[in-house]
Amino acid sequence: MNKAIYPGSFDPITYGHIDIIERAAEIFDELIVGVLENRAKTPLFSVDERVNIIKDVLGQLTNVKVLSYEGLLVDFASQNGAGVIVRGLRAVTDFDYELQMAQTNRVLSSGVDTIFLATPLKYAYLSSSTVREVASYGGDIGKFVPPSVEKLTYEKFGIIKGNQ
Ligand code: PNS
Repeated sequence: MNKAIYPGSFDPITYGHIDIIERAAEIFDELIVGVLENRAKTPLFSVDERVNIIKDVLGQLTNVKVLSYEGLLVDFASQNGAGVIVRGLRAVTDFDYELQMAQTNRVLSSGVDTIFLATPLKYAYLSSSTVREVASYGGDIGKFVPPSVEKLTYEKFGIIKGNQ
């Protein structure tokens, strides 16, 4: 079975992430969305919240599993029998970091390869940190995240929107 991992922080998941997940799920027999629990950082959403939000948003994709992980991504990949890591590339500014991560992971484990899917232009500007920033000021994030994520993100900032 051709199994891949799509790892990230997903704090929160955006339409850009969802686009990559849907396309990767077509390419691989099974896709595991790996949600990093990074104890050194304080995320907006806890790891359990992020896992549940992603499961809820992806309900219809039967070959996609959502799991959390701590520690090295290559260990998580090998524990789950996945030989491929999928990452989205939004723009050339992502490239240095992504290449370094792919090369590091390849040195750490020669059993794991990274492939990149190009983010569509309409989401090239989009990041979870932008979503958090705009939401924190009560700005409209409806074009960035699905409605359920929009509502939960505003709630985190104590913002109540009239039409939610
Ligand atoms: O969504 P992000 O924050 O850009 O994703 C980065 C992520 C979570 C994929 C990466 O930081 C990760 O997997 N870290 C776990 C620790 C690890 O394996 N580090 C070595 C690779 S540089």
